[in-house]
Amino acid sequence: MPKNIIVGQSGGPTAVINASLAGVIMEAKDYEAEHIYGMVNGIEGFLKGKYVDLKDKVKTAEELNVLCQTPSSYLGSCRYRLPSPEKENDVYEKLFKELKRLDISALFYIGGNDSMDTIDRLSSYGKLIGSDICFIGIPKTIDNDLAVTDHTPGFGSAAKYVAAVTKETVRDCAVYDLKSITFLEIMGRDTGWLTAAAALAKSEDCEGADIICLPEVPFEIDGFLAKAKELFKVKNNLVVAVSEGLVTKEGKNLCEAYSEIKKVDAFGHKIFSGTGRLLADIAAEKLGCKTRAVELNTVQRSAAHIASKTDIDEAFMAGAYAVRAAEEGENGKMVIFKREGNYKCTAATFDIARIANEVKYVPSEWIASDGLNVTKELTEYIRPLIQGEPETVYKDGLPAHLVL
Ligand code: F6P
Repeated sequence: MPKNIIVGQSGGPTAVINASLAGVIMEAKDYEAEHIYGMVNGIEGFLKGKYVDLKDKVKTAEELNVLCQTPSSYLGSCRYRLPSPEKENDVYEKLFKELKRLDISALFYIGGNDSMDTIDRLSSYGKLIGSDICFIGIPKTIDNDLAVTDHTPGFGSAAKYVAAVTKETVRDCAVYDLKSITFLEIMGRDTGWLTAAAALAKSEDCEGADIICLPEVPFEIDGFLAKAKELFKVKNNLVVAVSEGLVTKEGKNLCEAYSEIKKVDAFGHKIFSGTGRLLADIAAEKLGCKTRAVELNTVQRSAAHIASKTDIDEAFMAGAYAVRAAEEGENGKMVIFKREGNYKCTAATFDIARIANEVKYVPSEWIASDGLNVTKELTEYIRPLIQGEPETVYKDGLPAHLVL
């Protein structure tokens, strides 16, 4: 096994990203890695010399257990895109010099599409200069939009939260005898996997969400209003789940189409927020009903209090598997999940170049023909991922967290 290893977390956090970190730590300890370094604030922080030795920070089995139930990135995160080596070779020289100084033989990066691009670039550069460091990606994203893998760690817990909140919202909005629409705005920059999880609320004890709108289907206000009017003929209170990433048929984000303000993050990604509020205002004006907008915002990705045990266990497995893959000399790979039957999940690795920068969309056959709901196949795909509740460690009445 590698003498020393290093691990980083990158991109938007999830409720279980630290379970993957715990998996790396536990497996690396088993292989007796001398130092298990953790980049603070991902590659960007590491470039500034920020790292810790996780062996000093997570010492006991109890701490490792609490790390697994701590939401968000324990090591801190970044949204930093490595430049191409042709443009800024000095960044790579600096990184590889530092990795050599620390005697690193494996680097693990826990993240989404952009983080996998980092692993791809590092492993390609490493091969070019004849480095023997193994670079392995560990998937995470509530968006569930990484290619090849059946699903991503973090999605199941966020989906469980979204479905539970939808159920609670259906109860709340049913109290008044007047026409109303409650909009739930759910994250998912490009894809509607997480918004689709609202459909899981429909059950024996819940009517479920009435309309579900994903970014995969161009959103048309008139069609939406017509559907709401039709539903108002048979019921008073509607719950509508909308993705933050809804687009018009011209391909513009809904908020962007209705606003002059353009917000962009460090990756050049548009910052989407306000879709629910926008639709609530339009519906109130056009339909004359009471409306509310609930933006689930960051809570949906940090709601560890309702995390899925399946998700936590699989996130841990992904971290541990990555260390075993490096031990076997794999390089330029991402850990992927394979699904068997209903339901078994196993890990494997896959060439990172085929995954980095790809986006996995909700297939059109899993979306209702009117584009305003999802099919049973989609809820059946998600349901196993939200199963199980962990035994949470509490402190003073609240879930305990491990903080760096
Ligand atoms: O990581 C994915 C994600 O959670 C998206 O669903 C969301 O659009 C984005 O991150 C938000 O990013 P930030 O953490 O920069 O607000």
